[in-house]
Amino acid sequence: MNTLTNPNPIGIFDSGVGGVSVLKEIRNLSNTEDLIYFADSAHCPYGFKSPEEIRSRIIKITRFMLEHKAKLIVAACNTASIAGLDFLRKIFNVPIVGMEPAIKPAAALTQNGKVGVLATGVTISGDRFNSLLERYANGIEVFRVACPGLVEQVEQGLINEPETIAMLKVFLKPLIDAGVDTIVLGCTHYPFLRHQVEAIAGPSVQVIDTGNAVARRVVQVLSEENLLNDVSTPKGQEQFYTSGEPEHVGKVIAKLWGDNSVKVKKMKL
Ligand code: DGL
Repeated sequence: MNTLTNPNPIGIFDSGVGGVSVLKEIRNLSNTEDLIYFADSAHCPYGFKSPEEIRSRIIKITRFMLEHKAKLIVAACNTASIAGLDFLRKIFNVPIVGMEPAIKPAAALTQNGKVGVLATGVTISGDRFNSLLERYANGIEVFRVACPGLVEQVEQGLINEPETIAMLKVFLKPLIDAGVDTIVLGCTHYPFLRHQVEAIAGPSVQVIDTGNAVARRVVQVLSEENLLNDVSTPKGQEQFYTSGEPEHVGKVIAKLWGDNSVKVKKMKL
């Protein structure tokens, strides 16, 4: 039996508040781990930045996480993962788990062979995405839609507002017209809009993302590396940091995380 445990936190970051959707999945699977979340809100969205700019941001964030003794890093951002995951893994000697759009599960789930992907422009145009298609989407038609502005709506906490719904209708139209039966939410901000996407796409379309799979991978890596926390410890704590305006980011995170007592600290990196 493995008796080694490690009380250090898991570090989770995103360009902004979207990675909170992944944080939730991790907390659902593990009640004992301490979690540090960094929202790079002062530099959000990443979707319009060059891969070089994104890499420079996520190096700084990973350093910050390591200063806080993070035992594992989660790049809870598809855009950052596509642009810089391999790069981070070369630089830092810590387990790093990243995101990738759920092409593999979508290819397994689709009945009619038509899959839609909503993501940022960086995510759906990178080599990593093309390699995902080559590996998993054989014989499947994949329709990609970049969704400029959607991340910003979630950053403002505008989930149910008419403007957000109107944007979603525009982004979903080509997918509905193409007759997709599966839609992949390829950005960690979008699970907060899942119900709205489902309502527009209708009951014959299934909407999926990778948050839960990534959380399972996190627990698996911690277990393999003997890094899990002692299960008899009290409930794990969350700490939130942002490069943006903590009061505003705090309000939005409180709404998305579902806890009004959330405090977010400013951290300029
Ligand atoms: N949550 C990020 C993702 O998964 C958003 C990217 C952005 O900031 O544009 O891609």
